[in-house]
Amino acid sequence: MKPIRKAVFPVAGLGTRFLPATKAMPKEMLPIVDKPLIQYAVEEAIAAGITDLIFITGRNKRAIEDHFDSVPELEAELEAKNKQEMLEIVRNVLPSNVNCIYTRQPAPLGLGHAVLCAAPIVGNEPFVVLLADDLLDAKKSVTLQLIEAAHEQDGSIIAIQDVDREHTNRYGIISGAPVNEHTTRMSGIIEKPNPADAPTTLGVVGRYVLEPEIFQHLRQTQAGVGGEIQLTDGIASLLKTRSVFGLQYEGVRYDCGSKAGFFRATVELGKKYHGLQAE
Ligand code: UTP
Repeated sequence: MKPIRKAVFPVAGLGTRFLPATKAMPKEMLPIVDKPLIQYAVEEAIAAGITDLIFITGRNKRAIEDHFDSVPELEAELEAKNKQEMLEIVRNVLPSNVNCIYTRQPAPLGLGHAVLCAAPIVGNEPFVVLLADDLLDAKKSVTLQLIEAAHEQDGSIIAIQDVDREHTNRYGIISGAPVNEHTTRMSGIIEKPNPADAPTTLGVVGRYVLEPEIFQHLRQTQAGVGGEIQLTDGIASLLKTRSVFGLQYEGVRYDCGSKAGFFRATVELGKKYHGLQAE
């Protein structure tokens, strides 16, 4: 498999579960303590050697572009007041060797459609997809874990975790046969099955290494669950012609697309990295 340098961040969703906070502000800009969700995902990608960040944006997402842009007037102000620490924080949002590329999904037609919008920019290379609302706290970047496993298996690979059976209807669920302790060679994947119909309890987490063949399959994918063009259905089609694997990564996942997960991340990461306690 070719080296992986490009990451796609689909950020065009409506974020309805966080209304009214997300009425005018992107969900991906909601902060866990002092950092927006999207920055956690970007840092994880950069730690895995990614240099091209491709954001699939939509209406109301301008704040994401602004966040990764430089702010000369703010920097000048901090410099004048000799606030060095703050200045470093503002300047270090992105390393200088990293490029940001923005393209728009004309309407939120689904995650599969959002990923397909990246096709002209990704070209004929394998790439990573990161969903910023899954915050993954890990010693070693989960994206790096996936990229290493993709090279080892020589195929597409997606992050999975064992979920409670009663929650299978919140996830894409895979089936397949184990290759080693952490890796499964996939034979199937379905979106949000009812607990009684779920073939396993291995749920998909928002990190994917995909071969460029996925685009051909997404072009053929019809709207599925929720009337949306699902990435899961594109992967189900890809599976017919290519090997796809699931990796049980090392790390803790916070589902920051839900209020409970967002709250848990705030409390646990606030304690772990900022020494915060209730006063
Ligand atoms: P979600 O399923 O969490 O949807 O999308 P959402 O719209 O963001 O949030 P809710 O469910 O209404 O609260 C998972 C990821 O896929 C992106 C979202 O931005 C999010 O990062 N997405 C989803 C798109 O980019 N485009 C879409 O059409 C749908």
